[in-house]
Amino acid sequence: MTVDVEQVRTELIEFGPLSIQYDSRVLQPRRWTTAQSAWASALLRSAPDGPVLELCAGVGHIGLLAMVGQDRPLVLLDSSEIACEHAAANVARADVHGPVDIRCGDMAELIGDDERFALIIADPPWVPSGDTGEHVDDPVHAIDGGADGLDLVRTCLELIGTHLVDDGSAVLQLGGLDQVAAVSDHLTDHPELRLRLAEHRAYDDRGVLVLLVR
Ligand SMILES: C[S@@+](CC[C@H](N)C(=O)[O-])C[C@H]1O[C@@H](n2cnc3c(N)ncnc32)[C@H](O)[C@@H]1O
Repeated sequence: MTVDVEQVRTELIEFGPLSIQYDSRVLQPRRWTTAQSAWASALLRSAPDGPVLELCAGVGHIGLLAMVGQDRPLVLLDSSEIACEHAAANVARADVHGPVDIRCGDMAELIGDDERFALIIADPPWVPSGDTGEHVDDPVHAIDGGADGLDLVRTCLELIGTHLVDDGSAVLQLGGLDQVAAVSDHLTDHPELRLRLAEHRAYDDRGVLVLLVR
């Protein structure tokens, strides 16, 4: 009997001052997303007390870079067990002073009803299902955002609306300005989320970051 054994090599990439490990079964960390860490880090300087949450954290680099030198607790959440294993190794290597809690599974299931966060970082899949074939190097589970690309974004908005403290903020990654408009419309249509889109920053054709506040 022949058994095919997939050869998977762990790679290291510099992400700001961090050395981050990953492999081909997860999304390769993209260097432009240091901008999301930098924005989150700047917001933390005036954020209320409380822990930080990263939704769809992958191998954890965006949240870990935002937290360098910080002693707040950090929760990293992702559905990929492989990503969570890399995240654990990346935590061990990062200069983060507070406790880091890695939760592996569906984000909708892993946050306690009473948990509240001062800052939430979110990097959900946002590629429409029909376009995932254009990204041959990326694992489909890491990029497939459903028919309009926004299925997981809407889940993030729901969780941010529920678990963000009143004077906290969230930095959410999207694919383009069309998705920024769709998220803005969604928040208008769902006032119960008590969120508004305060600012967006576009990074050429690589992605857009949006700031969400109450
Ligand atoms: C666009 S990737 C971002 C990963 C990482 N932040 C990065 O920049 O490389 C989206 C991540 O969402 C995770 N994911 C997809 N569906 C999820 C779900 N329902 N709950 C939690 N994580 C999920 C995937 O495993 C993937 O790691």
